[in-house]
Amino acid sequence: MINIFDPASDIDLGTPERESEVQVSLSIDGREITVPSGTSVMRAAALLGTTIPKLCATDSLEPFGSCRMCLVEIDGMRGYPASCTTPVTEGMVVRTQTSRLAGLRRNVMELYISDHPLDCLTCSANGNCELQTVAGQVGLREVRYGYEGDNHLAETKDVSNPYFDYDPSKCIVCNRCVRACEETQGTFALTITGRGFDSRVAAAGGDNFLDSECVSCGACVQACPTATLMEKSVVEIGQPERSVITTCAYCGVGCSFRAEMKGDQLVRMVPDKNGQANHGHSCVKGRFAWGYATHPDRITKPMIRKHINDPWQEVSWDEAVNYAASEFRRIQLKYGRDSIGGITSSRCTNEETYLVQKLVRTAFGNNNVDTCARVCHSPTGYGLKQTLGESAGTQTFDSVMLADVILVMGANPTDAHPVFGSQLKRRLRQGARLIVIDPRRIDLVDSPHARADLHLQLRPGTNVAMLNALAHVIVTEGLVNQPFVDERCEAADFARWRDFVSLPENAPEVLGPVCGVPAEQIRAAARLYATGGNAAIYYGLGVTEHSQGSTSVMGIANLAMVTGNIGREGVGVNPLRGQNNVQGSCDMGSFPHELPGYRHVSNDVVRAQFEQAWNVTLQPDPGLRIPNMFEAALDGSFKALYCQGEDIAQSDPNTQHVTAALSALECVVVQDIFLNETAKFAHVFLPGSSFLEKDGTFTNAERRISRVRKVMEPLAGKADWEATMALSEALGYKMDYKHPSEIMDEIARLTPTFTRVSYAELDRHGSLQWPCNDDAPDGTPIMHIDEFVRGKGRFMLTGYVPTDEKVNSRYPLLLTTGRILSQYNVGAQTRRTENVAWHEEDRFEIHPSDAESRGIVEGDWVGIGSRAGQTVLRAKVSERVAPGVVYTTFHFPESGANVITTDNSDWATNCPEYKVTAVEIVRVSQPSEWQKRYQAFSDEQGRLLRERRHAEKAEVRR
Ligand code: SF4
Ligand code: SF4
Ligand code: SF4
Ligand code: FES
Repeated sequence: MINIFDPASDIDLGTPERESEVQVSLSIDGREITVPSGTSVMRAAALLGTTIPKLCATDSLEPFGSCRMCLVEIDGMRGYPASCTTPVTEGMVVRTQTSRLAGLRRNVMELYISDHPLDCLTCSANGNCELQTVAGQVGLREVRYGYEGDNHLAETKDVSNPYFDYDPSKCIVCNRCVRACEETQGTFALTITGRGFDSRVAAAGGDNFLDSECVSCGACVQACPTATLMEKSVVEIGQPERSVITTCAYCGVGCSFRAEMKGDQLVRMVPDKNGQANHGHSCVKGRFAWGYATHPDRITKPMIRKHINDPWQEVSWDEAVNYAASEFRRIQLKYGRDSIGGITSSRCTNEETYLVQKLVRTAFGNNNVDTCARVCHSPTGYGLKQTLGESAGTQTFDSVMLADVILVMGANPTDAHPVFGSQLKRRLRQGARLIVIDPRRIDLVDSPHARADLHLQLRPGTNVAMLNALAHVIVTEGLVNQPFVDERCEAADFARWRDFVSLPENAPEVLGPVCGVPAEQIRAAARLYATGGNAAIYYGLGVTEHSQGSTSVMGIANLAMVTGNIGREGVGVNPLRGQNNVQGSCDMGSFPHELPGYRHVSNDVVRAQFEQAWNVTLQPDPGLRIPNMFEAALDGSFKALYCQGEDIAQSDPNTQHVTAALSALECVVVQDIFLNETAKFAHVFLPGSSFLEKDGTFTNAERRISRVRKVMEPLAGKADWEATMALSEALGYKMDYKHPSEIMDEIARLTPTFTRVSYAELDRHGSLQWPCNDDAPDGTPIMHIDEFVRGKGRFMLTGYVPTDEKVNSRYPLLLTTGRILSQYNVGAQTRRTENVAWHEEDRFEIHPSDAESRGIVEGDWVGIGSRAGQTVLRAKVSERVAPGVVYTTFHFPESGANVITTDNSDWATNCPEYKVTAVEIVRVSQPSEWQKRYQAFSDEQGRLLRERRHAEKAEVRR
């Protein structure tokens, strides 16, 4: 456990680190030090252990030099330079502690304090306030100016933001918040208005923080040295006493946090400045949206019921687990070994995911295991394996800081991967060029101080055509990196691919109209990508969730290979993985055809290794994928499901099909923290544990394995891994782990890419990027450096096959979907936090011309019909989408976004085609029939849950 007040764990060196080949030596208070050129005197002093008082400086921000607290004396320099803005020079002689300096600093501090409330003892920052600390450092004992003059003490607090307050009476106008918003977050929402005494911090674009352009990342709160910007949770609970380093459980960035505690209560989450994925930054979800973990809706007792129309019965863990096991066995006896299966969770830890797939392969005795990556990044796994030889992204996030050209395709980083989005914008502000390929005008296209050079606003469903047109330009305009291709790639495959993309039918002039993008824009993008220096591709679900998702991934890998943009920093192929552990759930063998480490179940040698370790006979044939499970449920051959931490009833396409399949099952066992949509069809509910309640690891989009550390006991008495062990034992297959570290040790023994991973090594390194083995004991930040994992890179043919989902006169618009910053996926967590202040319902975006021709105005209820179903959403008229294209988020179950998505899917992996649905819309005044049925069913399930709870309360009273 790391003490937050341990200076070694989180020391602020005042100004950022500088990198330079040139080293500079100087003397500070008679002690010698050598530092890289460009380092500030303040930082050099801090590295020597010398504290120079400071207020406006902090080492996460560029120095500003406004507070005049850090003055020093330097031989040969006039006056008293600010140490934060003065760079070291060779032979410099610095004094930081003289009586003259002490007097000057005390004078400055007197001025600050004369306009500051003297309420230290009752202030929420008491004990953790830099102003208080510095007042102590400079030895301030009296304020000669008195407190009666003009001051700001009566200014009104802005409490509009649900997570933090702004109390201007405490502001010392140090500008740290403004710089944090600019430099760290890149939103530029804050400014200092007025001059001199009238200077005040103001949030732009609104009267208060909530209505402003602020996206509530909290960087300003973290940077503020006083209680001016302060978390409401600290105001309510008090200053934390200890902290534990752990990893965010929301998105695939995998930010590291200090969970700061007071007793057993979580006070706040502070992004860890040593976090290798986030470097001390966060977004609104990770920093603030953790209240769901103790929300009253949490179910903390196991429950069973015979039929889904029965009330739930709360039972002991033993009873619930034994009931589930007996049902699984009964069903297997009656319908056969393959009639049951399991779904692993990308929200749970690697260790938990590993156990679920192990349970399916051992205790169930089949390979019917799948994971939610099926519906998001399974094409990444397939496409990158085929071309590069490994099913994972090639870079670190930091690599973007060396990219000259950044191509973002089918991804919206500022909403879905916000901390990486901020880093990307930082690189753009340094001058990198940006190409966005997306049907929607995402924020990156045009945001403060970051603008795309090119936005190819293609029609949904035409990614492969676009990639082929880009490749055509590169090949036919002589932009191929021939030495790279000759040395690193399969010659015959390249020749075949080159001939294919060179065909006239792949020219931008032919495919541009298919994509709805001018040919010249495609040519300009191809030239920029191929010739602009280091070029990196970042892509998301807008690439994978298509009928040709795998083809697009291969097309992206082809582009990187043909231009030599792979195998070093600043380049690469970077899938932006959605959920916190979607990479890990794939790595851990969650797919029905692969054992951990992406090794095919049909491989006799690999299977033998696992058979020996697990002491069972494994099946050599792949099991059912999630869509196959649904089909088999409907045809009567699949009868029971164990579903951990995944809400297939909300997240999978064609909701009616999914719910019909779930209704056809004889036993559904759901393990989750809430009664989610899938649990409404369940017969056994095993209460899950939040990320705060267990130990384990997550693997982020960079292949970075980071520790998850328990900060509180599981509310239900068992962590998820313990529940899976209990179920396995009840099924007659005993698993005997005392701690998740032992599970990781087993993973390391059985998975070549994890050989050197252990909790001890993770503690030592902070985190590790796999492969981590004897060849790479410190992990592998960049992949494919000297050769591809498969040896030679393989160009794959990417013929464009238009989706079956076509517009016609009945369904003339194309619907595509995406996420929003403040909500997360099915919303089960974020809907139970104050994040609803920003997004309390899904909104349906429609271009003004399409809205006008249908008589629809902002806020109207709109009926949306597809070939799969109908739903109703509220309209948001927006030019972010092109005419003919409509868009919605999918965070609320009652929206029924997946009632309208079809069950078309990727040809290779069955990943659903969420991003293309032909629809028609009309103005309506009431919910759809599905929504009415959904509401009635949900109300009834809520009643069945409440009835059980009331019954138990009655028993307790008796
Ligand atoms: S709000 Fe805090 S960080 Fe911002 S200027 Fe005021 S004291 Fe400094
Ligand atoms: S919370 Fe983030 S976006 Fe909002 S003002 Fe602060 S730094 Fe800027
Ligand atoms: S960017 Fe992702 S991992 Fe980081 S705090 Fe936000 S949700 Fe969590
Ligand atoms: S810390 Fe150097 S001027 Fe403020």
